[in-house]
This record gives sequence, structure tokens and C-alpha cells, in this order.
Amino acid sequence: MKKTFYITTPIYYPSGKFHIGSAYTTCLCDTIKRYKEMQGYDAYFLTGTDEHGMKIEQAARDNNLKPLEHVDRIANLAKDLWKQLAITNDDFIRTTEPRHEKVVATIFDRLIASDDIYLGEYSGNYCVQCEAYFTPTQLLEGNLCPDCGRETKIVKEETYFLRLSKYQDRLLEFIESNPDFIFPETRRNEVVQFIKSGLVDLSVSRTSFDWGIKVNSDPKHVIYVWIDALSNYISALGYLSEDDSLYRKYWVNGDEVIHVVGKDILRFHAVYWPIVLMALGVPVKFRLFVHGWYMMKEGKMSKSKGNVVYPEPLVENYGLDAFRYFIVKELPYGNDGLFTPEDYVNRINTDLVNDLGNLVSRSVTMVNKYFHGEVSKTPHQDALGVYETELENIAQEVAMNYQELMDDFKVSAALFEISRLVGRINKLVDETSPWDLAKHEAKKDVLASVLYHLLEGLRIATILYRPILIESAPKIFAMLGVEEDLRTLESIGFGNKANYSVVKIAEHVFPRLDAEKEIATIKAWMNPIKSEPEIVVKPEIGIDVFNQVETKVGLVVSAEAHKNAKKLLILQINTGDRIRQVVSGIAEFYEPGSLIGRKLLVITNLQPVKLRGELSEGMILCGETAKHELFVIEANDKLLPGDVVR
Ligand code: ME8
Ligand code: MG
Repeated sequence: MKKTFYITTPIYYPSGKFHIGSAYTTCLCDTIKRYKEMQGYDAYFLTGTDEHGMKIEQAARDNNLKPLEHVDRIANLAKDLWKQLAITNDDFIRTTEPRHEKVVATIFDRLIASDDIYLGEYSGNYCVQCEAYFTPTQLLEGNLCPDCGRETKIVKEETYFLRLSKYQDRLLEFIESNPDFIFPETRRNEVVQFIKSGLVDLSVSRTSFDWGIKVNSDPKHVIYVWIDALSNYISALGYLSEDDSLYRKYWVNGDEVIHVVGKDILRFHAVYWPIVLMALGVPVKFRLFVHGWYMMKEGKMSKSKGNVVYPEPLVENYGLDAFRYFIVKELPYGNDGLFTPEDYVNRINTDLVNDLGNLVSRSVTMVNKYFHGEVSKTPHQDALGVYETELENIAQEVAMNYQELMDDFKVSAALFEISRLVGRINKLVDETSPWDLAKHEAKKDVLASVLYHLLEGLRIATILYRPILIESAPKIFAMLGVEEDLRTLESIGFGNKANYSVVKIAEHVFPRLDAEKEIATIKAWMNPIKSEPEIVVKPEIGIDVFNQVETKVGLVVSAEAHKNAKKLLILQINTGDRIRQVVSGIAEFYEPGSLIGRKLLVITNLQPVKLRGELSEGMILCGETAKHELFVIEANDKLLPGDVVR
């Protein structure tokens, strides 16, 4: 039977769009999962969204939406993004789903019944952003949150407490006897320090707001969002539900369980979560892999600093594989790393375009040019053989190091190992100058052998790249003519593929980026142009003046470009009474055809005028952005042509 491997990302807060930080964790987990599957594991990968709590309630209010409308929208954004990043999650859990809510409420009941949770009163400084209380000594000057720097609020409430103190010694013992429970080790030490400084019982319910899972026996209490959220790792597997087969398979009887989390949520996962499990009598099966953060030159990414990077434009413009490759490689194991547009573009050009992509196309081209597309393992006695042997050895070494590193989740370092192999293959081209060998008929065997070494080296590098280069690894295999069973880890030994028959024409897998231009483009995405909107103050008018304007809903029945004016469109609009012609200066922003069938707002009692020779009997309403882009204002679905707007 296959060994099982269960891996999870944190479930993300649906407060807004997802930046490269969330994309990092998710791509990292996906890479590890794909690697484990290559190794022959039965792997299961969970991600999702953490949808309850004050913070989400507030985000919904900021967007003028009901909480559920808001989280529905953002959960869909997350699902779309993971699809775009080729994430192979097996499930997506939302904490607002009944399958999760039921389990959390039952967990709470059980912990009350076992007296691990009891009713008390609490007063303290609460940070809404981090959904956490802080003691006076933890606060920064001015009652600011030590984690995010925002102002905390004093919250006083009757609350249920979880008995952390009762489990302090048991947790410490558990960590001592499971040295790789938390890794890297520095994070483990942090946790041990924290526990030794003394665990205080944790407030695990709120009465001050509504958006969360209610305590069954005392429904004015909403369950603390972290107890709610952490439970996702087992609720998604069917813990306490009718069908708990996944829970038995991947958790209770599972071989490996890994929670991957950022350093900021270490305490919740390393202290609260194991204690909840211990109190429930659920085995603490998981290990915790803690990663650092992507930082920007200015420090943390933040909207107000205008330095947030979103994954979508990077993927759409420079490719999926380039994104996954960069994002996973650039953050060193356990530490923070810097994201800069310069590194992004240069790393793609160097590693993927030059070193890998060009090597593939040069190799394929040479095999076609010198050997009609076919080379085999070719023994020879030439002195150049030492370079080939060196390449063979490095390939073996890299394949071994790579697997060791990946097994330790040192994914970035594993990718650097592959670069070392690709570098060595390129070096063989420089050392042997195949185009010179080709000039001498007597060197034909040597040339064949060198080219064979290039292809075999590339095959091995591409196997190792499979978990990260989702689109291009299969393309490279196809160009080299590598059969399915020679794309596997088991087949990695140098020389296992004896004969190559490559495609006639090599495709460039990675298009070169114009560095200067693309760096500027990425910077522009990070710093959206914020020209100050002109504040135009118009004199007050009375309602009688306003009422003189007649505005109606109008349905666009046809639209065409104005023959003599580039900026104008001529629209025929049904305004209920009749079809009228309106000329509008929106040609730069809309294809005429795209407006047909839309219901717009039309001022119908403007004096008719001729615009460049065409009669205009009214005006359509548009909104204008600070960058002077125009958008038509559309009427609500329920409104019909001729309905009055006031
Ligand atoms: O914390 N670089 O959700 P979240 C790398 N809902 N990782 C980053 C990052 C950055 N710049 N910014 C954030 C939550 N992250 C909770 C989790 S789990 C039961 C509940 C990481 O959306 C961060 O460290 O705020 C965390 O691991 C993850 O993104 C989700 O953060
Ligand atoms: Mg699977």
C-alpha cells in the first residue's frame, strides 16, 4: 500500500485580493505535493478560506456587502487564482460551509463537557486585524498591536476559556520527544520559550459581534475564529461526520501530516492547535513547517505604501512556470526574502530563458543539424570524455541532493541544485565546442557523445523540475522525445535513456523579456498611479433645478463609429418613447458592438445638437476615473427602457 501524505496551507482570510504572500504558501505546498506523488505517495492537499470573525465582518462592511456575499465573492477569487496557478488541491474548505460549522460546534461542546473549556470573564486589548488579545506587556507604546502595529481596542466580555495552562507540561514533553514537530529549529526554540514563559488560559468565545459559529448551548457566544479556523484541518477530512474515511486514512492512520504556515501564525499552530487536539483525544499527527515572508524594499507589503504585488498580471504576462519558479525559489528556507521587479525579470531571463530554454533549443538544433535528429550513447576514447564524466557525476550528485533537500522541505535549495546541473550542462557546450567537432569527420563519435550528454543531462534536470515547471517540463520532454516511463524519479540514473530522437524544430519554451521595459511595467503595477482627483465644487442648486433634468433608462439597440470623428460613437437608443440618436465621446473605451443590449442612463431633454454633422438628441451618463477613462453607467436589471431616473 502507498504511504500517505497530507499537506495543508493555512486557510486564507478573504479580506481582499490575494497577494504573492498567499500565492507563495500555496505554490510551495503544491510543489511539495507533486514531488511526493512522484515519489509514490498517496498525497492529499487541502486549502481554503477562513471566513468568520470581526475582521471579515468589517471587510464586508467596507465593501457594502453582507458578510456572506463578501466571502462568496472572495472565495471564488481564491479558487480562480489557484486554478490559474495550476494548484492541485484535493479539497477547498470554507469555514462557512455546514460540514465545517457543525464539526466546530461539536468540538466546542465536547470541550465544555470535558471541562477543558469553562465560562469566565475577560477584559483586555484586542487587535481586530490579528483577531487576538494582547497583554499590557506585549503591547507596543500607545496600545498598538505588537504583530501588526495597529491600534488595539479594549474589549470586556463574558467569555469561555480554554485551559491552556493544564496542558503546558504535556505540550512541552511532546515537543521535547518529537524534535522535528516544529521546523526549522529556530521556530521550535521560539515556541519552547513561549510555553516556558507560562501559558495562560485562552479566551475562546466572543459576545461582542455576530459573524461566526455559535456555541450550541449558549448561542450569544460566537466561537473564537482561531478555534474555528484551526479545526478546518480535520473537519475537511470528515472528522466527527458520518463519513470520516479520509480522516482515518490521512490523519489517524496516516504516515505524514504537514501544516505549512507563515511565521506570523506560529503560536496558533504550535500551541493552541495541539492542545485542542490533546483535549479532544485526537492524536497530534501533524508537523509544522514554518516559512518566512516576502518583503519589499520598503518593508512589509501594504496597500497604503503602494507596494503590493499580485500574482495575476505576473502570470498573464510572463507565464505560469516563471511565476511558480521565481516565487518558490526566491524565498530561502525559513527566512524572509525580498521581492523586487529587477530580480523577477532577471531571474527569468538568466535561469529560464538563457540557461534552460536556450540550452534545450540549441541542443535540439545541433542534433538535427549534425545527426538528422537522432543520437545514442556513443563510447569514445577522446580526452573530452573527462568533461562528460564530470557532468555524469554532477547529475547523480544533484539528483541525490535534490531528493534529500526536498524530503526536508528545503525547496528553494533543491531548485538551486537543479540550476547547478543546468549550469554544468551548459559548461559542457563551452568545453567541447560541438560546432568545431562537427568540422572533423574523425570526431563524429565524440560529437554524438557530447550531444547525447546534453540531452541526457536535460532529461534529468527536467524530471527534477517537474513539480515546479508545470507547462514547460512536458514540452521539453516532448521536444527531446522522452517516453513517459523515462520522466520519473526511478528513471533518473544517467544513461537510462540510451537513444534520442528529437523534434525537427525546437520551440523557445521561455520567451526573453525586455528587462528594462518589463521592470518598469511591474513597478507600475505595484504603484498604481494616484493622480489627485480634481475636486470640483459646483454651486448648490435647489431640487426644482435638479428636477428640470429628465433622465431615463435607455436600451442601446445599435452603435457605430462616427465616420469623421475618432472619439465619437453614434448610438441608437430606445428610451421608451422612441428610438433616439445619441452621439457620445466614448469611442476610445468601447467597441461599438459591445454596447448593444446594455441599459444606460440617458439625459433626454437636452437641446439637440449636431456633433460633426450627426444629430445628438441627448446624452448618456458616464463615470470618469482619475486617469480620464470613461465607463458608462448601467441601469439595474429590473429597470426597463423609459423608466425614470431621479
Ligand atoms: O493568517 N510572504 O490568514 P492570512 C509570505 N486565516 N507569506 C505571507 C505573506 C508574505 N508577505 N503575507 C502573508 C491567516 N503570508 C489565517 C490562517 S489557518 C488555520 C488560519 C502568509 O490570509 C501568512 O504567513 O492572513 C499565512 O501563513 C498565510 O499567508 C495566510 O495569511
Ligand atoms: Mg492524491
